[in-house]
Amino acid sequence: MSAYATVTTEDVEALARIVGQDGVVTQEDEARLLVYGRDETADWQYRPEVVVLPRTTAHVAAIMAHATARRLPVTPRGAGTGLSGGALPVFGGIVLGLERMAQILEIDVANRMARVQPGVINQVLQEAVGKHGLYYAPDPASWGSCQIGGNLAENAGGPHAVKYGVTKDWVLALEAVLPSGEVMRTGGKLRKDVAGYNLTQLLVGSEGTLAIITEATLRLIPRPTARRTLVAPFADLDTAARAMVAVYGSKVMPSTLEVVERAALDAAAEHLGRPVPHQDAEGWLLLEVDGYDEATVERELTRAGEVLLEADALDVLVANTPAKERELWAVRRCLGEAVKKQAAYIECDTAVPPDQVPALFRGVREIAARHGVRQISYGHAGDGNIHVNVLTDHSDPAERERRLGPAVDEIFDLAVSLGGTITGEHGVGCVQSRYLAKCRDAAAIGVMRSIKQAFDPLAILNPGKVLPGDVPAPVGSTRRGART
Ligand code: LAC
Ligand code: ZN
Repeated sequence: MSAYATVTTEDVEALARIVGQDGVVTQEDEARLLVYGRDETADWQYRPEVVVLPRTTAHVAAIMAHATARRLPVTPRGAGTGLSGGALPVFGGIVLGLERMAQILEIDVANRMARVQPGVINQVLQEAVGKHGLYYAPDPASWGSCQIGGNLAENAGGPHAVKYGVTKDWVLALEAVLPSGEVMRTGGKLRKDVAGYNLTQLLVGSEGTLAIITEATLRLIPRPTARRTLVAPFADLDTAARAMVAVYGSKVMPSTLEVVERAALDAAAEHLGRPVPHQDAEGWLLLEVDGYDEATVERELTRAGEVLLEADALDVLVANTPAKERELWAVRRCLGEAVKKQAAYIECDTAVPPDQVPALFRGVREIAARHGVRQISYGHAGDGNIHVNVLTDHSDPAERERRLGPAVDEIFDLAVSLGGTITGEHGVGCVQSRYLAKCRDAAAIGVMRSIKQAFDPLAILNPGKVLPGDVPAPVGSTRRGART
């Protein structure tokens, strides 16, 4: 990686001329500047040299043209809720925050589509389209704060992906600014369009390394009007995982099928300050069914309950009131935060074919025991996407690394040996890039490097992410100090 230029006073002045004085954050406001140097991945602190907050595509284009002329690294950023370091400015330079581009430009009810700017918060979009009886399904755990641009960049998933797919399945067209400052449009308000290479899908999940998404056209569906949720406790995690596989083999199509192990339930109870229903279950399945007809959904839920009981569920607890439903969902949605509070940890966002989840659980337990670390697993069982967290209570960072590092390495090897991958929905970022070659062959990584070169010949856009390479150490540690 060749050296980048350093941001000068002249650069800051030029950037302020583009976005206005209120659109730049400089070292004069060090505390605010540093907020843009961390995300939810870890307690890593990097330091942007300047933060720029554009309001329009033209602003983004002018910023990128300036960055190209000066060879300044640019890290695009949404809400900073990412879990793979995608928004961390590891080489300093410019953080390009898209939070002021937060307009829903259009909700096209006739065509069931929405056009949005990248800074729109996921939940805000869901509520806005909901008012028109429409539905946008991808809802990562952080949906109350994460932004559509970040969701697109990471191809985020969430608990409804088992029925509705992930972010990529909802994108029809993009507007994006290339590193040179040129604006590119891919497609339009079209449900079908196969003209040329599928650049829309290439940008989705490219983690802000190829272009900056400035507008997206999203597909919507009629909003499901009926929805029921249940929880089933199991005597052990393997049985819970096998029950999930049994649901797959049945005629039930759940809209959510999540698994949580007991240690995660305990963490959730601690985090929420109240007990969790069936907290003593070693394995806990959360299942939701939705649709457009109450009676059909009710029948499906009953059928799902029967399948789970046949698969040795100890009980089936149906949420009979909206309050009960919210209580169960609050447990599920807080798990990331709750587990993070426990101890120094590293999260492995494993994904395997769904029928391999029982084998993944068994293997992970064995690896954790052998390395003398704790592990807490939960996740999107129906997608085979399990968030395996390895934890250690050791206070010495070197000792933590000595224990957690090899365990993580083996967990990824295990996932890959089961036909899986190193990240199902959190992205590679700068955290997983060193493991990429475990699940992608040399030919594929070579093509990825060529694509990067074609889009970003100066390597100024989100450097240090996705592709294996050296990443500078954090300038400091923040917050909980929990993670190594
Ligand atoms: C979740 C986040 C961690 O599933 O992906 O809660
Ligand atoms: Zn998840």
